[in-house]
Amino acid sequence: MTVAIPPDTVSLSDYERHFDATADPAVRAYVSGYAADGITDRANRTAFDRLSLLPRILRDLSGATSRMDLFGETLESPILLAPTAFHKLVHPDGELATVAAAGMTKTLMVASTQSSVCLEDIARNAGSPLWFQLYCQPDFDDTLALVRRAEQAGYRAIVLTADAPINGIRNLEQRAGFRMPEHITAANLSGMRGHDFVARKPGSPIFQGILDTAPTWRTLERLCAQTSLPVLVKGVLHPDDARLALEAGARGIVVSNHGGRVLDTVPAAISMLPRIVERVGGNAPVLVDGGIRRGTDVLKAIALGASAVLLGRPVLHALAVGGSVGVAHLLTILQTELEAAMALCGVRRICDIDRSLLLDAGGGE
Ligand code: FNR
Ligand code: LAC
Repeated sequence: MTVAIPPDTVSLSDYERHFDATADPAVRAYVSGYAADGITDRANRTAFDRLSLLPRILRDLSGATSRMDLFGETLESPILLAPTAFHKLVHPDGELATVAAAGMTKTLMVASTQSSVCLEDIARNAGSPLWFQLYCQPDFDDTLALVRRAEQAGYRAIVLTADAPINGIRNLEQRAGFRMPEHITAANLSGMRGHDFVARKPGSPIFQGILDTAPTWRTLERLCAQTSLPVLVKGVLHPDDARLALEAGARGIVVSNHGGRVLDTVPAAISMLPRIVERVGGNAPVLVDGGIRRGTDVLKAIALGASAVLLGRPVLHALAVGGSVGVAHLLTILQTELEAAMALCGVRRICDIDRSLLLDAGGGE
């Protein structure tokens, strides 16, 4: 398939603009959509814009690098691909195109439980490390079976998503009449009872059964006891929950509000990051996602204590517009922006980035 990426595509927002102009309106409502009124989705962005960088000049920048270590593995960059469901909605090759782009750019990809290509096929096409995002299934045996398959296929960590026992109130999708096309399925879950899309239909009975099998702290403990892979918990916003997750055996935290797609009016993820980093106290890596659109956003997140960041919607925008070449291009743009931001702030390494680079958060004394 030939792809023609419009020549004015020079930033992540350009991919979003081209996606908005060309995507099917119902698919757009799902991919770019948010819960209820989008208050949290907007907050994720504005919280970054409110932070000001305070650069340092004339520092030695020789040998600068964005390489960093995570769970004993050296990554080329602190920018990771967030788990997002059903890539075939925006590209016929689905996750196979995405993982090809991850390989081209040496980017770590987190594959979703709800991928439209099965986790084994994604792994076979991977040229960079993979983590597996886990949605607990109604039957714990099914949950465990997914973990075993991920272990077998060479995934290096499990990311348990804990903020979405049900879907959010997705009014945009409802208004646009979004329905999953018949040929697109959650390829990992065939034969299982599956994660329900219950809240998509107005008036669906949330209190009639579905919550009885929703995961709890006990599920996390059982999971951590059953796998030797590091388990991260994604969807943490309360500092106390970060502690509880580590006490249950988790080895990492992803501060996230699911891109504002689940519960509206919760705080921007980046706003909760400093308190969670403080509570975790260096005992585990803390990652963050939601609203990362510029290299300066990546730098700000790291300055506030993140070990790495994850990118959600922009990847789907680029996949739709330019396939794997588009995603590789998008990742290269963001990586170049991060390198520019580091150089212009006077930092040579990720581990040298700290709060002193932010005005009113430690900088400027
Ligand atoms: C998601 N996200 C998500 N998270 C998860 O843990 N499992 C999943 O299957 C999905 N699926 C999904 C689909 C789509 C279309 C989107 C946009 C998002 C949430 C995702 O991992 C991440 O938390 C947010 O997307 C981050 O916010 P930004 O980068 O999109 O602003
Ligand atoms: C979403 C689910 C799949 O955000 O996590 O759409």
